[in-house]
Amino acid sequence: MSIAIHPVTEADRAFWFTLDRHLIREEFARKVRDRMGYVLAADGRPTAILRYSLFWDSIPFCTFLYVKEGARRRGYGRLLMEHWEKDMKARGYGLAMTSTQENEEAQHFYRAIGYRDCGELNLPFPGYEQPTELILGKAI
Ligand SMILES: CC(C)(COP(=O)(O)OP(=O)(O)OC[C@H]1O[C@@H](n2cnc3c(N)ncnc32)[C@H](O)[C@@H]1OP(=O)(O)O)[C@@H](O)C(=O)NCCC(=O)NCCS
Repeated sequence: MSIAIHPVTEADRAFWFTLDRHLIREEFARKVRDRMGYVLAADGRPTAILRYSLFWDSIPFCTFLYVKEGARRRGYGRLLMEHWEKDMKARGYGLAMTSTQENEEAQHFYRAIGYRDCGELNLPFPGYEQPTELILGKAI
């Protein structure tokens, strides 16, 4: 099995939106331009994606990570996160952050790869209500 991770490009657009139902279309071009997204391919087949932004304009914050159904628990999520963390470290950042809802399975994944809970976010605003969002961080 060969695994390759590349910064997202325009050529990934169609695949990207098969997994990411949240990103606003115009924001995709920005992720490409700013190299703030990655695609993992397994044996040449795109399989997982990660995008991030900067919390406080200074801390890398993973805003979306998704491994295709049927390809989970094979280490791809971990590989993608580790690739991103190395990339962030090489750019001079010392902390990586992310978040996930308290009713989602992903929290177990993040803790397994070294993230620690460091806060909670609640949005008691009409139209924005959701289960508590757990905030996690990891020194890199
Ligand atoms: C969460 C997600 C990204 C994990 O990716 P993955 O490739 O399946 O995870 P990995 O195989 O790298 O798992 C690494 C370790 O994390 C832990 N882990 C992963 N998924 C887990 C789960 N559902 N429950 C408990 N632990 C889990 C395990 O310890 C695992 O190691 P192991 O398989 O040797 O036991 C993937 O399941 C996914 O895309 N889920 C749907 C979307 C989502 O929730 N995204 C994150 C929030 S934006």
